[in-house]
Amino acid sequence: MPLDLESFPIREFRKGRGMAWDPQAIDFSQDRKDWLALNEVEQKFLLSQVVGFLVGERAVTHDLAPLQQTLRMERGRIAEEMYISQQTYEESVHVEFFERWTQEVLPGTLGKDIPYPEGEGNMFSEILPDAMQALNEDRSPEAQMRATVTYHQVVEGVLAEVGYRLFYLCIDERKIMAGLREGLRNIQVDESRHIAFGTYFAQRLISEHPALEALFVSEMERLYEVTTRSNQQLPDRYGATFPFGVAASVMDKFTNQFFKQRREAVLKGGLIEA
Ligand SMILES: [Fe+2]
Ligand SMILES: [Fe+2]
Repeated sequence: MPLDLESFPIREFRKGRGMAWDPQAIDFSQDRKDWLALNEVEQKFLLSQVVGFLVGERAVTHDLAPLQQTLRMERGRIAEEMYISQQTYEESVHVEFFERWTQEVLPGTLGKDIPYPEGEGNMFSEILPDAMQALNEDRSPEAQMRATVTYHQVVEGVLAEVGYRLFYLCIDERKIMAGLREGLRNIQVDESRHIAFGTYFAQRLISEHPALEALFVSEMERLYEVTTRSNQQLPDRYGATFPFGVAASVMDKFTNQFFKQRREAVLKGGLIEA
């Protein structure tokens, strides 16, 4: 069967190729000056956001491959395999961007060796890798649904989206960190295609196996609980107002908003093209 060049994954693949960007081309000279002008608590807060993104981008780079392999074994899925190969490349570009920012903007040894997260119940050290690597043993549509809900809907579609909003509230408002903002905007555009692919993929699974709709809903609910629990870490540390004057309540507000959007995008149809 010839490759359907107008299929959704191939259209997104073409779009992504046209929007490729180079993290090395972004100028960080103003970011270095802006960093030194922040007070200590602002530096600590901003660093925790950057580190959160760096470890998240590493995790999504490490753990997408089992889904590609699953589709390869099913046969007849080359359009989706092609899209996922591009997504893995783009996640690698995002890792390069955050590695470069931490290594070149932060003074001294501060950003030179950001460790991997640890801990039970951590999204990037446990929940995401477990959901993706489960596909190495179990390639069933149920396992695929659990993997894509965790990866595309929750990590990319909620956690990262909440993360951009938090960044923008800190650094857009003050018009600082021009390089970081430029990279974040490029990443957000890439991620909107990844989320669109995840929406297409979940809808494709449900159309082939209607019983998976209930699994989609229950996985979204389970991970909503996980996300709101981990959201509480920042208010526990900083109180009701974060550095940069950001209200702690935005975490839950954005989390609720993006969970609702993601659920509706999959269940109410209407593909959101990035
Ligand atoms: Fe990414
Ligand atoms: Fe992504």
